[in-house]
Formats: sequence, structure tokens, C-alpha cells
Amino acid sequence: MFARSALSSAKVAVLGAAGGIGQPLSLLCKLSPYIDTLSCYDVVGTPGVAADLSHCPTKSHTTGSLPDAGAGSWPEGSEGGLKAALEGADVVVIPAGVPRKPGMTRDDLFNTNASIVKTLVEGCAEHCPDAVLAIISNPVNSTVPIAAEVLKAKGVYNPKKVCGVTTLDVCRANTFLAAHMGKDPSDVDVTVIGGHAGITILPLLSQTGATMTDEEREALTVRIQFGGDEVVQAKAGAGSATLSMAYAGYLFTENVLKAKAGEKDIVMPAYVESGITEAEFFASPCRFGPDGVEEVLGYGELSDYEQGWFDKMLPDLKAQIQKGKDFAAN
Ligand code: NAD
Ligand code: LMR
Repeated sequence: MFARSALSSAKVAVLGAAGGIGQPLSLLCKLSPYIDTLSCYDVVGTPGVAADLSHCPTKSHTTGSLPDAGAGSWPEGSEGGLKAALEGADVVVIPAGVPRKPGMTRDDLFNTNASIVKTLVEGCAEHCPDAVLAIISNPVNSTVPIAAEVLKAKGVYNPKKVCGVTTLDVCRANTFLAAHMGKDPSDVDVTVIGGHAGITILPLLSQTGATMTDEEREALTVRIQFGGDEVVQAKAGAGSATLSMAYAGYLFTENVLKAKAGEKDIVMPAYVESGITEAEFFASPCRFGPDGVEEVLGYGELSDYEQGWFDKMLPDLKAQIQKGKDFAAN
């Protein structure tokens, strides 16, 4: 069991809180028993988002800040600015940045989102160097290495506290496999490894015990790898997954906070600095504790089919990591 006092002392900052993910994610945080201060930060709209959320009758105090501390904030007259949003934060969730349109890859977002993430993580280095960073902004395979390099340059990098959020890949894998098996998705738990873009997403369906033909295995694997594209196409230019991502982002945040509060056996996937493959950053199940990632866990045996994808994925993933590191270095 965890201490009640620890339950009620967490501050979570959402950067990009007025966006498609940021708003529903902030709502879920506002409903959380694990959060007692929720700070909503964005370049637009956060005083309104925070005022709106503050009418929900839950215990957490909600604030809304814009980059310019003098440009408005919630509560009215409160300090505002990135510093106020971040100071004292235990977890900073970052969905700030542009989403894809049909025909784009996540890497096509690099030029815009790399700078956004770099600037925000510089703020974290200064104002909340001990917070766990949960990075949602794409391309995650590169933005997480950027965050790590920024923190290293500021002398505050802790690899246990810099995570790319890959929870949505697991949500999709569980949903799609459950449909195939005729099961409730909550009874299915697929390990998904690698990164968060196309073929770097590798669901280990062989470990689930599900029976399927070769064609079914291929179709399920590819659907999980390209699940993001399914939503991008259906939204037809209006963005990418927001509601399912808000759910997945909250699940990740809640688990980080449960572990922080002393709850044991919190294991969930995260894209983190890792020594379990040749890639410097890799998504795999991780055990979380009070200080972030306690242990990067292995992922068991791969089938020959999965090994084929793994071998294809690794050069792509390493290149995307290097791209992030090069950006941060220059
Ligand atoms: P959106 O455009 O609806 O919202 C993004 C928000 O970020 C906007 O409100 C914008 O004002 C804000 N923003 C931009 N620059 C900022 C800055 N410098 N500081 C603070 N806020 C800033 O986009 P969205 O649909 O919410 O998606 C956000 C990001 O999340 C995209 O990069 C998308 O690709 C990514 N994403 C990742 C996953 C994942 O599984 N990791 C899933 C879905 C989407
Ligand atoms: C997703 O997986 O839904 C996100 O990474 C958004 C996208 O661009 O597909």
C-alpha cells in the first residue's frame, strides 16, 4: 500500500495543454486522486482551459500560464510564465507541437517540434530538474534524445527521469488483439518494443499465446505499427490521435505517480535510455519506483517473424536517435 500523504502531494505540469491532446489529458489529470496541483501551460488559451477545469469539483488546484507572465493567467493575477508552470513539478507531460496530416511521417514534424521540445526541456532543466519528463511530442524517437542532450548540457540529466510515452502503442495492440481473440481488451497485455514510428513499433504477439495464421499475424502487426496513420487518415487533415493519446498519456502519468507514492510492481513500457539493444534509446517494459525508472526490463524471446522486423527496425531507430542528438549538438 502507499501512504495517503504521498498520494496528495504531486504537481503535474502539462505543456501544450490547450491542444488536441493537452485539453483531454488535463481533464483526466484534473480528475486524478494522485494530483493536487495541475498546471496547464501553452502558447495560447491556457487561462481559459484552467478556468474551465477549475470548476470540476475535485481536490486539485489548477493553474493556467502563457509564456509571457504578463499576458494573462489563471487564477487571474497569478504569476504565469513557464517558470511558474514548472516550479515544484513532479511530472511534466509534453504534448506541445504540431501533429501530422495525411501523407506525412512523424519525422516530417522534426523541423518544428525539435525546437519546441528543446526550448521546453531547457525550461525544465532550469525550473524542475528533478521532475520525470513524459514526452509525447513527435517524432518521439528523436525528441527524447534531444531532451536527454539538453539536460546533459545543463548538467541535470537523469536517465531514469526522461521517458518517451509509447503507451498508445500498447493500447492499440491490446485493442486490436482482443478484437481478434474475441476477448475483453483489459484481459490482453501485449509487450510492444522499439520506438514510436512505423516499423520501429514492434508488438510481440508470439508471447501472448494467441493463435493466428501467418496472414493474420502480418495484418495485426502492421495495423499496430501504423495505427497512428489510421487516425490521421480518418481525421483527414484535422490532426492525429488526441483522445486515445490523452487516455494513454494519463495512464502513463498515473503510473509514474503511483510509483512515486511507493506503490510496488509498477511495470509499463517507456522509451528510455537503455542498454538492452544496440540502440541508445529503446522502448521496453520498465519497472518504475519513487525516482522514475528503477529498472529497464528485457522483453523475452522473439519469434523468427519478430526477429525479422527487429533487424529491419534497428538501423532506422538508431538513425532517428542520431538525428535528435545532432540537432541538440548544433
Ligand atoms: P495540437 O496542435 O492540437 O496541440 C499542440 C499544442 O501545442 C497547441 O495547443 C499549441 O499551441 C501547443 N504548442 C506549440 N508550441 C508550443 C510551445 N512552444 N510551448 C507550449 N505549447 C506549445 O496537437 P496534438 O494533436 O495535441 O499533438 C501534439 C503532439 O503529440 C504532436 O507532435 C503529435 O504528433 C504528438 N502525438 C504523439 C503521440 C504518441 O503516442 N507519443 C500520440 C499522438 C500525438
Ligand atoms: C500516434 O501514434 O497516434 C501518434 O504518434 C500521432 C501520429 O502522428 O500518428
